[in-house]
Amino acid sequence: MNDSRIPGLYKLDVGERIAKLEQNGWLTPENADALRSGRHVLPTAGADGMIENVIGVFGLPFAVAPNFRVNDRDYLVPLVVEEPSVVAALSFAAATARRSGGVQATCDESLLAGQVHVTDHGPSAAGAVRDAADTLLAAANAVHPRLLKRGGGARQIDVRELALPDGTPLLTVHILVDTCDAMGANLVNTMCEVLAPQIAALAGGNVALRILSNLCNHSLVTATARFPLASLSSPEFAGDFVRDGIVRANAIATIDPWRAATHNKGIMNGVDPLAIATGNDWRAIEAGAHAYAARRGSYASLTDWSAADNGDLVGRIDIPLKVGIVGGTLRANPTAMLAIEMLGVGSATELALVMAATGLLQNFAALRALATAGIQEGHMRLHARSVAAAARRTPEPSRLEGARAAGKVILLGEHAVVYGQHALAVPIPDAVSATVRRQDGPTTLSIPDWNLATHIDAAGRNGVDALVMTIVRALDVAGSGFAIAVQSRLPRGMGLGSSAAIAVAIVRAFDDYLQLDLDDERVNEIAFECEKHAHGTPSGVDNTLATYARPMLFRNRGSLQVIDVEPAAPLPLLVAWGAESGDTRQQVSGVRDRRGVDPQTFDALFAEIDRISLAGADALREGNYDRLGHLMNVGHGLLNAVGVSTPELERMVDIARRNGASGAKLTGAGGGGSIVALCPGRLAEVGQGLQAAGYQVLEVGG
Ligand code: MEV
Repeated sequence: MNDSRIPGLYKLDVGERIAKLEQNGWLTPENADALRSGRHVLPTAGADGMIENVIGVFGLPFAVAPNFRVNDRDYLVPLVVEEPSVVAALSFAAATARRSGGVQATCDESLLAGQVHVTDHGPSAAGAVRDAADTLLAAANAVHPRLLKRGGGARQIDVRELALPDGTPLLTVHILVDTCDAMGANLVNTMCEVLAPQIAALAGGNVALRILSNLCNHSLVTATARFPLASLSSPEFAGDFVRDGIVRANAIATIDPWRAATHNKGIMNGVDPLAIATGNDWRAIEAGAHAYAARRGSYASLTDWSAADNGDLVGRIDIPLKVGIVGGTLRANPTAMLAIEMLGVGSATELALVMAATGLLQNFAALRALATAGIQEGHMRLHARSVAAAARRTPEPSRLEGARAAGKVILLGEHAVVYGQHALAVPIPDAVSATVRRQDGPTTLSIPDWNLATHIDAAGRNGVDALVMTIVRALDVAGSGFAIAVQSRLPRGMGLGSSAAIAVAIVRAFDDYLQLDLDDERVNEIAFECEKHAHGTPSGVDNTLATYARPMLFRNRGSLQVIDVEPAAPLPLLVAWGAESGDTRQQVSGVRDRRGVDPQTFDALFAEIDRISLAGADALREGNYDRLGHLMNVGHGLLNAVGVSTPELERMVDIARRNGASGAKLTGAGGGGSIVALCPGRLAEVGQGLQAAGYQVLEVGG
């Protein structure tokens, strides 16, 4: 049986992910090829046959969540969803749940109800219909003899006597149908239409309505999971704190419909993406779920979270799910067929069990976040690629299109470098990419990762206007309009060289597009010009790293002196950042003021930082990570001594070290911004520790 744990899946690019799933047996070679070639997407002609007035097909991300275990079976769950963090949260929750056996799910019956509403009926209508139940069932089954052969069919007739708001009596007849592996909407509707006249005749009344009900209380699925306290704790939060927070959040959703709506929305964040991926009618599922949530007369939570006697957190969901794995619409959509095959469910009920598990686990992930760091932090973290799709989901290099440039991490030497001492910096390779094409009208710049899309204003004074105008003027192309698109794995204003990297990537994109034949020296020069507009008096380090993407020792004594440092091997390095950004100018001037008060002490600190930077370069050349890590730790202490650390930076550094980093320190000017951690053999653990605390993480690679 396939194992749904696929470590590092999030780190692969799309092609590698498909290959990995094929290798692990989750994708057949045919399905893997379909995904590679795009053949899995519904063709427009197929769409045209499904609904009216088609003009195309609409794209949404199609992803998988690993780690699922439901009823002792592994599943790789297909998800179609546009919301960042849903997939990562589910994968995380599934991984946590499987440590204590995964999710247990049951479904006692799976019947869809058709309804016939009759008015103007006589007083003995209900009895007459009840008495004719067998005849009505036989008539219903005659409509779909094939369903009967497959073991399904109409099973039961229920009669309810209601009254309209004005007091008019209303007879409601339910025909409960086992629709086997189809969702069954069409066949139940047909049955209703066939039976309606007979029912009206029996009741001596008139048919008002005849259609299925989406409140599928005869298709209730229950899923449960148990979380020992150890699986809930993190370096920041004790297990019982997390458990009690989740239980309280759930209690709130039982009494407050406003909160219950959001709580249940989070559940549907798991249910809907799987419903869409498998070609199911998610509006029907939504309608049923919310109607069921209001079954007690007040809208409330679909889940229940409590503390067991032994202290474990126990979660349970009860949700009506009438889904299908066969049927015309579904067969017409190749992605849905592929998703069902990959999921490997043998029946519609099995799909419903997995779907209930996704709802429960998504709810767990949301409540856990709410009970701890808060959802926004998590959202921002998980947003790292678009700022998006998971700290862990910052875009991989191969995802980037177009001309590339590196970001930078200062390993050692910040601030001392302002006083002529050495600093040691390494690139973040392929951190930014850009494409350019000519367009009518003004030049535009889009950086979707930063939610930025703007027209460039030639007279504009903001950073991106100046950056783009400096480039187009330097290249002598200011007269035309261009569409410039940038992808950035780097956050803005976190001391990782994003502005220089963007400048270099854009210059290179122009070079590619207009065949300008620029050499690196010229690229670097133009980027330096851009940096001057952005930062006033830049050191030139960021643009140099962005252009050449090589580790280097540098110092500035009037002009920039650079010594290449050849590392023994790629560094197991990551950077992380939170919400707090640092202001370089402010930090530099703060240090200047403090030095003014006590120059002797500060110059001694800078001299020590210089020695450490040189020693760090040697350790880098030798691949001596213990030594380099130690020097980084000391370097951080010295930066703290010059007054540029913050409680947030200290917290990040502490988390990195506690998760096994051999060295961790703030990087850049401080006062906020990023940390850098050296993590031989512990990249995943350190990354996860930081993510769990709500920080965004980027592996430096290279
Ligand atoms: C966001 O899509 C879903 C949540 O709001 C759910 C919840 O609050 O429980 C996070």
